[in-house]
Amino acid sequence: MSIEPPQLLLSIQAQALIKSLSELQSEKFSGSVAEKKTQIFGKKGLFTQVSQLISEVNPTEKRLFGQWLNQIKTALELKLVTLSRQSTTQTSQDEEWIDWTMPGILPKTGHLHPVTHAIESITRIFEKIGFTRSRYPEVDWDWYAFEGLNMPANHPARDEWETFFVQTPPSSTKGKVVLTPHTSNGQVREMERLKSQPPIRMINIARCYRRQQDATHTQMFHQFEGLVVDKGINIQHLKGTLDYFAENFYGPGTKSRIRPFHFQFTEPSFEVDFSCHVCGGTGLIKDLEDPTGKRKCRFCKSGWHEVGGAGMVHPNVLKAGGIDPEKYTGFAFGWGVERTYTLKPGLQIDDIRLFYSGESSFLTQF
Ligand code: FA5
Repeated sequence: MSIEPPQLLLSIQAQALIKSLSELQSEKFSGSVAEKKTQIFGKKGLFTQVSQLISEVNPTEKRLFGQWLNQIKTALELKLVTLSRQSTTQTSQDEEWIDWTMPGILPKTGHLHPVTHAIESITRIFEKIGFTRSRYPEVDWDWYAFEGLNMPANHPARDEWETFFVQTPPSSTKGKVVLTPHTSNGQVREMERLKSQPPIRMINIARCYRRQQDATHTQMFHQFEGLVVDKGINIQHLKGTLDYFAENFYGPGTKSRIRPFHFQFTEPSFEVDFSCHVCGGTGLIKDLEDPTGKRKCRFCKSGWHEVGGAGMVHPNVLKAGGIDPEKYTGFAFGWGVERTYTLKPGLQIDDIRLFYSGESSFLTQF
């Protein structure tokens, strides 16, 4: 577009206005469209200045000048609107590749240790059937760890617990100080806490220590101890509790099994097994390459996994806790948290030392 002002009005301002229009039309100007708009149509803008010149125009050229002003105004406004729309579209196009719905980048956070998760889950399961979680010292007197549990000093059964002793003066009544080798130290302590007044339904989960180290043993590990004492408690209650835990911790269909064993603090005593979820407790896996069509389950080798011990509380233990064994009976069980957890479907961890190795590649999987 070419708009020529009347000859008389070839003033510096009018020239500058024409230059602005040609810059806009060629889209070669510095600054933004909004800035250009202010430069032209602002209070002291070029167009404002030029239109004020009308008072100086001689009357014969006034009409011509007016027409020219209108034409250039329309041309400037049109171009400014077009450019302004283009720049808005360009901005939104530039922004289009930012997907606001995409999830942000989360900062790396840690999570609870798998053993802590297992402890939480075990606690919840037992709480549902009326057990209360108790906590007792990890550094305890020999009396609670052994003697009160029907294991007098020098009893050979103590050897199995491969105990760490703390070098500190012994108590005249409660003996030496030990790092608790099992959570059974909580049994007599719980009876004392409840002033020897059953009913008792305790779940004691704590760290334990033994001089042991291999794929299934660590020097520090966790156990959970159940203790129920009341009138008329019998082995059926124990078996029912074991089955309830098996189903709730490992999933429907998991069974428990008890086998005769010996512990000084329970009579009768049992070892507790849970059915293997890999072979469904049969010990055999379908294998078409084998002539029999089956092979031994490599995970359990027998259909069952041993997790710990259990039994009916020995009368001497009830007596140590001030409870009359003629009136009350009870059952107790104690299992390793790590061992119990590694048998969960989908885990199959074959070395419990990994839990405490600090290997982040292992821990971040949970
Ligand atoms: C006991 O400790 C008995 N106090 C259990 C008990 C409680 C029996 C109440 C009867 C009544 P045992 O030494 O077998 O039993 O240990 C029980 C479980 O703790 C083991 O089966 C294993 O799962 C776990 N455990 C024992 N030692 C270690 C260890 N060093 N590292 C990891 N887990 C262990």
